[in-house]
Amino acid sequence: MPRKILVTSALPYANGPLHLGHIIEAVQTDIWVRFQRMRGHDCLYVCAEDTHGTPIMIKAQSEGISPEQLIARIAEEHRADYQGFLIGHDQFHSTHSAENHYFTDLMFNRLQDGGHISKRSVRQAYDEKAGMFLPDRYVKGGCPACKAPDQYGDSCEACGATYSPADLIEPLSTVSGTAPVWRESDHLFFALGRFDAMLREWVHSGSLQDAVRAKLAEWFASGLQDWDISRDAPYFGFEIPGHPGKYFYVWFDAPIGYLGSLKALCERRGLDMQSYLAPDSKAELHHFIGKDISYFHTLFWPSVLHGAGYRRPTTVHVHGFLTVNGQKMSKSRGTFITARRYLEHLPAEPLRYYFAVKLGAGVDDIDLSLEDFTARVNSDLVGKLVNIASRCAPFVARGGGQLAAALPDPALYREFTAAAPRIAELYESRDYAQAMRKIMLLADRANQYVDTQKPWVLAKDPAKTAEVLAVATQGINLFRVLMVYLASVLPSMACDAAGLLNAPLSRWDEIDTPLLGTALAAYQPLAQRLDPKVVAQLVAAPPADTPTPQLAAPQAAAPPAAAFATVDIDDFARLDLRTAKVINAEAVEGSDKLLKLTLDLGTEQRTVFSGIRKSYAPESMRGRYVVMVANLAPRKMRFGVSEGMVLCASGDDDRVFLLDVDAGAASGMKIS
Ligand code: MSP
Ligand code: ZN
Repeated sequence: MPRKILVTSALPYANGPLHLGHIIEAVQTDIWVRFQRMRGHDCLYVCAEDTHGTPIMIKAQSEGISPEQLIARIAEEHRADYQGFLIGHDQFHSTHSAENHYFTDLMFNRLQDGGHISKRSVRQAYDEKAGMFLPDRYVKGGCPACKAPDQYGDSCEACGATYSPADLIEPLSTVSGTAPVWRESDHLFFALGRFDAMLREWVHSGSLQDAVRAKLAEWFASGLQDWDISRDAPYFGFEIPGHPGKYFYVWFDAPIGYLGSLKALCERRGLDMQSYLAPDSKAELHHFIGKDISYFHTLFWPSVLHGAGYRRPTTVHVHGFLTVNGQKMSKSRGTFITARRYLEHLPAEPLRYYFAVKLGAGVDDIDLSLEDFTARVNSDLVGKLVNIASRCAPFVARGGGQLAAALPDPALYREFTAAAPRIAELYESRDYAQAMRKIMLLADRANQYVDTQKPWVLAKDPAKTAEVLAVATQGINLFRVLMVYLASVLPSMACDAAGLLNAPLSRWDEIDTPLLGTALAAYQPLAQRLDPKVVAQLVAAPPADTPTPQLAAPQAAAPPAAAFATVDIDDFARLDLRTAKVINAEAVEGSDKLLKLTLDLGTEQRTVFSGIRKSYAPESMRGRYVVMVANLAPRKMRFGVSEGMVLCASGDDDRVFLLDVDAGAASGMKIS
């Protein structure tokens, strides 16, 4: 029975460029959607621009254009980027649309009629200098829960706590840098607590990830708070019906944007929207999101849907955050890679493949290591996958251009197709990493087959023409199975491969029968090796006009504290920093980075492995003093246990600079 599935990925904010973090989400979703279609299911994929709210209003003001002009321009950029990455949305809409306005009003009215909305006056941060109420994100201060400094007014990035800006320790407006005053204003609240039982039931019936379930358990335990869904003018958004001067908070109408987009799609294609929305709908509803927006999607959104008389999501798939070379993407480090920048240098599919290799079913962060990326793509896609076709297709051409009428090794073919159910399960559960591993093991098998059969040797013997063609036919058929498995990850390569095969690669059940007796087209290269030099350019110094990352504080200077997270004197005192004399230093075999240092601490000696070899020769180290962290927990490394750490300054390149100790100091002196 084909399933009827509606899929979404989170709506990108229309105030800045897409970066590779957005792209990994879109790729994760797109692979899943294409996979479902290839399995014969009816699967729709909708997304939209998230256009409302203060950041967009302020950005438009600063550019001297209307918010409408701004969101139209950004939408075009986003659209082009998604297309560049082969993201196949059925509908890419906007929250600033008639369809979204319709559903936002409708659902609000239903919630109000259901008694889920209440009005009360709240004291709110007001920036007297800027003349506006301050959204939570425009107030920063210390987290009331964990005391982490410099946190946004709605939630803490250090401990995950959510709270209101009034709870912050020493709040400051990021618009003007002044301390906000607190003013009274009427706000509308959605009574989330009334949905507690419904949500608990939903959580247990759904197939949420363990980590998400655990987070929800915490939220339930701490009690579900009413949710403030209104904002005062000036605000770019929809005015709340019946409440002049009040606007829907952007997060109220954003998820409703999924429905707005679906509505536009249904109207365009003549589909029945109710069949997706009705409480007894048989259709599935899947949301793909990043972990930072789980609260909205696993608590508010199911409740708003339910309260408005609609079905709830089937499930919410949460992914972790993308890091680049092991670190949070950062403009100053040049690792804030926009979608555009990537596409200016490289084709989309290698990255789609690499993301698939890295994406598991969990919420762990995902690292794009550029070295590993290059190596994996060159070894897997070029060295393994395409290699099968490029080695076999020429022998088919030489043998008359048509595949043989039978497979010489049908058992091997069956071995390949027998993997289908397991690989499908892995795709279904979004464990693409495992799926890629399985597929590449099969690619190894296929290459082994060709290696063993040696068609290039057979081809020298004119009596063995048929045998050569048979081997090549087998190889091409194995390649075809692999291409079907990979088509949702590599849609463009699959399209080229289908051209070569003169047969579609659009459904998994195509592999039930091998391709025999038909003509192949002339072989064209299906993938190119990645050049490490080009890949390295992705993180070269960013151009001066690189746009600011999303959600960064607007124009006005942020308080100076923003640049550094502070620690108090007790935190500092926990580090035991000591002077130490280097008694011995030697290169570590098998590592071009590490030196093995023997350090004298006065009272004892320590072995420390330090990544300074590129900047310091072993002989230059002996006898000098260094600064070390003496109470760092010992770490087991490949070459031995490291019992501390030597402090260095490091720049953007690989070079490091050891901290020096002035003459006269002795080993083991405490640094304070
Ligand atoms: N507009 C809201 C979503 C509304 S959905 C009804 C939003 N926009 S966003 O542009 O900030 O983020 C869009 C999606 O990208 C979110 O799912 C977010 O988690 C994801 N990512 C943003 N940065 C990311 C990484 N560095 N890595 C992976 N995903 C990241 O939130
Ligand atoms: Zn905190």
